[in-house]
Amino acid sequence: MSITPATVPHHIAIVMDGNGRWATRRFLPRLAGHRQGVESLRRCVRACVARGVGVLTVFAFSSENWNRPADEVSGLMDLLAKALAREVPQLSRDGVRLHFVGEKSALSDKVREGLRQAEAATAANDRLVLNVCFNYGGRWDIAQAAAALAARGEPITEASLHAAMGMAHVPDPDLLIRTGGEKRISNFLLWQAAYSELYFSDRLWPDFDEAALDEAIADYAARERRFGRTSEQLQQQPTAARLSA
Ligand code: FPP
Repeated sequence: MSITPATVPHHIAIVMDGNGRWATRRFLPRLAGHRQGVESLRRCVRACVARGVGVLTVFAFSSENWNRPADEVSGLMDLLAKALAREVPQLSRDGVRLHFVGEKSALSDKVREGLRQAEAATAANDRLVLNVCFNYGGRWDIAQAAAALAARGEPITEASLHAAMGMAHVPDPDLLIRTGGEKRISNFLLWQAAYSELYFSDRLWPDFDEAALDEAIADYAARERRFGRTSEQLQQQPTAARLSA
């Protein structure tokens, strides 16, 4: 199916897997793969802006990534700080609004301040919301939301939990892509991906280019999203209602 504005998902989420293998295959240190991963992310953001995607959410550092070798962890922190310092002006010119989702208290003051400044500098932009999940885990998000509601003595319902979670400012992802060949969710957006279409690519993240993104969008466009209903029920709805369901 060809890509038209009507078939582009409003919200794309990505598990950017495969940086380490990309580097190892080139006899490079793993961090070189993460650096190339930042380049791939930059390309992907611009492609999403060009295609009219409204929200892009990426998994940059998971709650479990602290278990990696210390130099890789500190390298990723450093990479984030440097990427922000370098990329924020261009992101802003492209109309990108940055949000960081995750447990910020475990991050260094320097990294936290970098995140705060990047969010503040891009707060007025409205072409694309870029959520960077950093020190994030889906289980963490559900648990922290439940704990916040309990502390305020508020009832725990689907709506109140959703509103207390880190992604409350955007609708749920329509399309969730994982690169790198693995077919797992790995604790990403456990709550929000309930009805996301899943797409797995064998490409390593640094090799995931515009053409690969278009293949994923075309695959998504050919899916029938039923949200628990039957095909027959969907056929009876007008097209606009089907797409916004
Ligand atoms: C998974 O690949 C990737 C990560 C844990 C880091 C993702 C980070 C980026 C793409 C760079 C953007 C980062 C920032 C800081 C903005 P892997 O290392 O698990 O790859 P492997 O499965 O081949 O070992």
